Amino acid sequence: MRDAGIKTDIFIYAKFDPSRIDEASKYNLTLNISSFDDLKALKAHVGNTVKVHLKIDTGMTRLGVPFEQAEAFLQEANQLDTIELEGLYSHFATADEGDLSYANSQLSKFNDVVEISKKLDMSFDFVHCSNSGAILNVQDSRFNMVRTGMLLYGAFPSDEVPQKLPIKPVMTFTAPVVEIRDVKAGTQISYGGVYKTKSDTRIAVIQAGFADGVPRPWYIDGFVKFQNQDFKITGRICMDQLMIDIGSADIKYRR
Ligand SMILES: Cc1ncc(COP(=O)(O)O)c(C=O)c1O
Repeated sequence: MRDAGIKTDIFIYAKFDPSRIDEASKYNLTLNISSFDDLKALKAHVGNTVKVHLKIDTGMTRLGVPFEQAEAFLQEANQLDTIELEGLYSHFATADEGDLSYANSQLSKFNDVVEISKKLDMSFDFVHCSNSGAILNVQDSRFNMVRTGMLLYGAFPSDEVPQKLPIKPVMTFTAPVVEIRDVKAGTQISYGGVYKTKSDTRIAVIQAGFADGVPRPWYIDGFVKFQNQDFKITGRICMDQLMIDIGSADIKYRR
């Protein structure tokens, strides 16, 4: 991105890779610092200071220093002169759920961390916590920046969030119907015969499978949309094909 002329801040959310500090410093990248080991590696860095955001784990149990060690972590980070402390953040695990009790307990912990940072006389340009679910559901968690993921793709993170925002999916995944078969009730379809037709019907074969990225477990609840109608995926998704039950729908296949 830098080589392409992009000059804005670039924050690397991935786990910090100490072997690439020099590269990060050369390209002026902002780093995600989420453990005491990360700080140790930064201590040894020589050269330009690197901008960092400190990550505290308040309940996602992914990256981040455990909440209980946040104060020690902030103190240690505050003493490093090889870094510029720019951000303080955490991540919600359940902000897209109807029951927000866990999300609120995470928010309360993060608020405590913000208070600790103030007590230590530390200030951050960016304090952030909200993902898509929280943007829609946990108003008090916005601080001064949000990190939008799934909403950017035009999808709501769950059906338990308010859905008033006018978003549109950024992509569709389409494939042709290549065969249509008339089948009797009780006909088993695809590998393992895990799906059996309940009545006489028509089965359409679609030229897309797990090799194209259709997740295999989707045969359980998945459907395919055609002209605004949903058709159930019948039987296991194959490598290059999947089947749907089209009943008497007016669908033709490509010859
Ligand atoms: C650190 C961080 N922030 C924001 C996001 C975006 O989350 P969401 O897709 O829930 O908006 C992710 C996604 O996992 C993430 O890891």
